[in-house]
Amino acid sequence: MPLVPAAAILRRAQSGGWAVGAFNCNNMEIVQAIIRAAEEESAPVILQASQGAIKYAGLDFIAAMARTAISQARVPVAIHLDHGTSFEQVVRCIRGGFTSVMIDGSHHPLAENIALTRRVVEVARAVDVSVEAELGRIGGTEDDISVSERDAFFTDPEEAGLFVESTGVDSLAVAIGTAHGRYRGEPRLDFERLEHIRKAVNIPLVLHGSSGVPADAVRRAIALGVCKVNIDTDIRQSFTEAMRRVLEADPGEIDPRKVLGPAREAAVAVIREKIRIFGSSGKAPEI
Ligand code: G3H
Ligand code: 13P
Ligand code: ZN
Repeated sequence: MPLVPAAAILRRAQSGGWAVGAFNCNNMEIVQAIIRAAEEESAPVILQASQGAIKYAGLDFIAAMARTAISQARVPVAIHLDHGTSFEQVVRCIRGGFTSVMIDGSHHPLAENIALTRRVVEVARAVDVSVEAELGRIGGTEDDISVSERDAFFTDPEEAGLFVESTGVDSLAVAIGTAHGRYRGEPRLDFERLEHIRKAVNIPLVLHGSSGVPADAVRRAIALGVCKVNIDTDIRQSFTEAMRRVLEADPGEIDPRKVLGPAREAAVAVIREKIRIFGSSGKAPEI
């Protein structure tokens, strides 16, 4: 099955009322786990790498691993840059074979975010690469945004309309109460705001920081226009816990394959569970 632009999957997800899982990878085992889980669920999938992952593994390595896995895959897959922060990073990833990029200009004032995103869209369009942008600030769980700060950080529906119109972006990451990392309590999502954003823009919306968000809340967000759901922390946790279990059971184990093999299995299980929640099981033949 082909390597596809993310927009090809997102369009189907939007019309079908489901969401594609976008899973972060940092190493070979996680790349393989993402593809295997998607195949076992017959689901289209997005394999994404952050700038941190690219720094850790090297762009050429991560791109080659992803391409190799995809060339053998029986489901459609997009390779996506997660939270790209510069035009240069985006161009390097496009040259590396990514079919989708996120330009995260959310820390800039609106006009600068628009200008940067427009520049990326112009280049990406020319080579059929999809672009995701972010409006509002999706922080880390450690940021601990107070109730009074929520309005200042969350995506403004009116601004979202202007942003999408001015940039021509394919999908939009929204700040509605999720955060990256492990939540201390239960996250409270602003569904009313999501509804207003959805009314203001007609493109697929993206939910970041989705690990630890209860399945019902994720489903509700999907029903309100979220078509891509990002998961990293839940994979990291299941992967590392499985490694720890092996090493605790046998502290003398020195074969990395005996440690990483069960970790890969644990990642497959968590990714399959997410895919089922997102409603993308069985959707591969539609792309
Ligand atoms: O959005 C953040 C992702 O979980 C990637 O995290 O920058 O540590 O690779 P990272
Ligand atoms: P979590 O690590 O909270 O799942 O967030 C992932 C994410 O949003 C990647 O962009
Ligand atoms: Zn994110």
